[in-house]
Amino acid sequence: MNKENFVSIAEAMKQGSGEVAIRGWVYRERGSNQMKFIVLRDSSDIIQCVFDKAKFEKQWEDIDKLQIEASLMVWGEIKEDKRAPTGYEISADKIQIVGLSDSFPINKDLNEELLGDRRHLWIRSRKMTAILKIRSTVLNAFRDYFREQGFTEFQSPIIIPGGAEEGPTLFEVDYFGKKMYLSQTWQLYAEAAMYGLERIYGIGPTFRAEKSKTSRHLTEFWMAEMEIAWCDLNGLIDYAEGMTKYIVKKVLENNIKELDILERDASKLMPTLEKKFPRITYDEALKILKDKKKIKIDWGKDLRTIEEEKLMEIYDTPVFVTHYPKDAMAFYKPADPKNPKVALCFDMLGPEANGELIGGSQRDTNVEEMKKALKDKGENLKDYEYYFDINKYGAIPHAGFGLGPERLIKWICGLSTVKDAIGFPRTMTRTSP
Ligand code: 4AD
Ligand code: MG
Repeated sequence: MNKENFVSIAEAMKQGSGEVAIRGWVYRERGSNQMKFIVLRDSSDIIQCVFDKAKFEKQWEDIDKLQIEASLMVWGEIKEDKRAPTGYEISADKIQIVGLSDSFPINKDLNEELLGDRRHLWIRSRKMTAILKIRSTVLNAFRDYFREQGFTEFQSPIIIPGGAEEGPTLFEVDYFGKKMYLSQTWQLYAEAAMYGLERIYGIGPTFRAEKSKTSRHLTEFWMAEMEIAWCDLNGLIDYAEGMTKYIVKKVLENNIKELDILERDASKLMPTLEKKFPRITYDEALKILKDKKKIKIDWGKDLRTIEEEKLMEIYDTPVFVTHYPKDAMAFYKPADPKNPKVALCFDMLGPEANGELIGGSQRDTNVEEMKKALKDKGENLKDYEYYFDINKYGAIPHAGFGLGPERLIKWICGLSTVKDAIGFPRTMTRTSP
């Protein structure tokens, strides 16, 4: 099995004529007494291979029995053929069957639940493969954007003694008989590291014991976060906007083929590249919802999913909503000195009814204020001692945000749920495979 002799299906089609050797899995098959048409897939594409019985007398029985997902090596001559599914066809001269396949338990009649149960097989589908390629572009683009601007990658611990976002969504871990928890955010440890590195980013597993069964909540996901010294809310929002445009641009440059497979109308992403994202305050958002959508929200409540979705019907780019009510926000979001009822924070909401994709804020450095906010929420101050200690030694204005890649991918790919934006989703009810 000489690796050098094989090319990917995409490379074979690029070559366009002459002899090629490819290997992959049976994607579709049909045939007659004389001819067998096998569409083969590999990670790059699919191609039709034609087997003429006259050339394969000895192997015909085996070829005829091949089922979907059997693995093969095929040697033959490639040529353009407008009737073939991807415009090229290989007239096979030689075949080696590598792995036989049972009757593949996935067909187009399966519902979301059954596809979930068979995810270990469904992950080979063209749909999942396209999404996972886009996911890889998204995460790489996130890294590249910050690296190009001199940020350093930093990792926070995943097993933590407690304290981060909200108590109720912490997963408990039995740590040698001691109660520990799974990380809900990189942020608090990142703030400590920011005092050394100043500009940092990280992508890490993130856990939330969310009881919500929505199309936007996972219990395990990969938050992409950044933290920066000497930065205020407007400067922070500039980064979030620049990063979002950069990621979408990279997907459009690298993944048009995948967006096509997903039947995603890529033109819907163009306004995001071309326009400046609107920046509105929470107060303005409430007014817009009341005037244009007849939705009345009592001042002081965080926006709910349905309200975010209604608001986003008006826009074709992401939108920043800033200055949410201080009391409804996490303890580390500081009060606005000009109006202490609101916090110096933002959420970036996605168009096409995608709601919150990013959450970020300036960071409070006033320990007394933070302690009060935590006490009001019933948190144990002991868990945060290290975090308060940071502020004793040269506290500075700083800020940061966290992006939910699965939510961003859901929007970019036009998916109906974040469960499809990750290889093996975890939700309250989905725990296997
Ligand atoms: O708004 P969140 O909770 O912000 C934080 O955790 C901050 N500590 C981040 C920071 O400032 N460094 O979460 C950030 C983003 C959300 O906007 C959302 O996109 C995503 O993480 N997210 C989820 N994605 C999928 N499933 C969930 N259960 C999510 N919870 C949050
Ligand atoms: Mg949030």
